[in-house]
Amino acid sequence: MLHYKITQATAALFLAVAASAQSESAQSAQVPVVDLSAPYSTNEIPGNRSFDAPFFVEDDTFPRIQIFDEKFKQIVGDEPTIHSIAKSANDSFNAFHEAPLVRGDLVYFSSNAGSGGSGPDRNNRLLHVNLTEIEELHGDGNITVTYNEPSDRIQMINGMAPYLNDSMIIATEGRENAGVEPGLFRYQPETNTTTPLLTSFYGRRFDSLNDLKIHSSNQVIFVDSLYGFLQDFAPFPELPEMVYAFDMDTGKVRPLATDFVHPNGIALSPDESVAYVTDTGAQNGTVNTHLPASIYAYDIKNEDGFLTFNNRRIFAHALTGVPDGIHCDDEGNVWSGVGDGVAVWDKRGELLGLINIGTTSANFVLVGDGLIIVLAETEMFAVRLDSSLNPAKLHYAE
Ligand SMILES: *[C@@H]1O[C@H](CO)[C@@H](O)[C@H](O)[C@H]1NC(C)=O
Ligand SMILES: *[C@@H]1O[C@H](CO)[C@@H](O)[C@H](O)[C@H]1NC(C)=O
Ligand SMILES: *[C@@H]1O[C@H](CO)[C@@H](O)[C@H](O)[C@H]1NC(C)=O
Ligand SMILES: *[C@@H]1O[C@H](CO)[C@@H](O)[C@H](O)[C@H]1NC(C)=O
Ligand SMILES: *[C@@H]1O[C@H](CO)[C@@H](O)[C@H](O)[C@H]1NC(C)=O
Ligand SMILES: *[C@@H]1O[C@H](CO)[C@@H](O)[C@H](O)[C@H]1NC(C)=O
Ligand SMILES: *[C@@H]1O[C@H](CO)[C@@H](O)[C@H](O)[C@H]1NC(C)=O
Repeated sequence: MLHYKITQATAALFLAVAASAQSESAQSAQVPVVDLSAPYSTNEIPGNRSFDAPFFVEDDTFPRIQIFDEKFKQIVGDEPTIHSIAKSANDSFNAFHEAPLVRGDLVYFSSNAGSGGSGPDRNNRLLHVNLTEIEELHGDGNITVTYNEPSDRIQMINGMAPYLNDSMIIATEGRENAGVEPGLFRYQPETNTTTPLLTSFYGRRFDSLNDLKIHSSNQVIFVDSLYGFLQDFAPFPELPEMVYAFDMDTGKVRPLATDFVHPNGIALSPDESVAYVTDTGAQNGTVNTHLPASIYAYDIKNEDGFLTFNNRRIFAHALTGVPDGIHCDDEGNVWSGVGDGVAVWDKRGELLGLINIGTTSANFVLVGDGLIIVLAETEMFAVRLDSSLNPAKLHYAE
């Protein structure tokens, strides 16, 4: 990866705070926090950083936390830590890729759907780790990673959300070589039961379902994108790339938004008044930096459960790489996995900060009480910020 070094003149304008271990428990040493919230001279930042080179100033050691706005200091708290808690056995298995969710004391997630141990001839995997084990690990380590084995109808998981107290809703991309179409499924891990909910748009094949959120009206808001085709495991698309609503009570499905290059992640604000959709159009197998690496916001109108997405606007553009998985905290701030970690904006779109792990995070989960589990393909991180940080309340997740 290409990095740029900040010039000395510019470096003086940035303030590096508290670098190393504070407490005796070196294991839980605080990570470096780089404070960029004071006014600084952007015209002195070299303008030649490559698309996915991690943003940094002064040196290129990761992980670190970068503050772009005063407001992020309170979210970060006094003793932020970032620990590597699990690694793939080898570089050809990207175990920690997508779709993370918290259910009780377990965090479920899926392995990569396009490279590193999955692809046209292999399904990806559903896995989980135990939060108690993460709590007991005070530092770096390798916690136990366990496989689930749902039905073969579940091919290429890309999105998941907890549902009621006994299950999760899974969005799959499908896999042509297995003869399995994309769809939405309900999976109950305790009984190992898989229930198909939606496997076509009135008989027409979806492209490859990517991410989802569950709306309090019992509708699944999901994204259909082209990545299954771009990664050679889905046929040529039949439908445009769209965001849909699927009503689990009535079985009806209809589009909510279109006109993307490649839509990817979806988030809802805590009061369900705004939807955020990431567009990873700049990355289609090759990088085209003139295409979107962007987040769009929509106002959601809810007429007795009939939802419409209105007033589309640009909300943010990723500093590095593309914005992928996206989630709101309970204050309405917007968090998204990007090319060098997890970036955070306030609800207006002001960049607050960056959890910079120096590599791409496709997705992550805000667990609560300051804990964030970050997926980074061959590695999983536990990030601990201020204990007041909590996810937006998840509907149907009790
Ligand atoms: C960016 O420009 C600086 C100053 O011209 C140069 O030293 C550096 O090598 C360039 N970096 C890249 C990644 O091209
Ligand atoms: C890498 O790890 C995966 C998962 O444990 C395993 O299936 C695969 O055979 C390993 N590959 C190599 C080259 O060791
Ligand atoms: C998680 O780990 C704890 C401690 O080992 C254990 O008591 C608990 O049963 C585990 N949870 C599940 C769902 O297996
Ligand atoms: C975790 O496991 C990986 C792969 O086996 C190994 O490279 C790494 O050193 C281990 N980390 C720790 C902290 O034990
Ligand atoms: C769960 O059920 C599926 C069939 O739906 C089966 O293939 C799989 O082996 C089962 N897993 C376990 C752990 O029993
Ligand atoms: C879910 O909630 C119902 C009703 O409260 C309860 O009977 C059931 O045991 C719960 N299931 C789980 C897996 O917690
Ligand atoms: C990727 O995007 C570029 C730029 O729009 C385009 O030329 C190329 O055909 C696309 N590749 C695929 C596989 O769609």
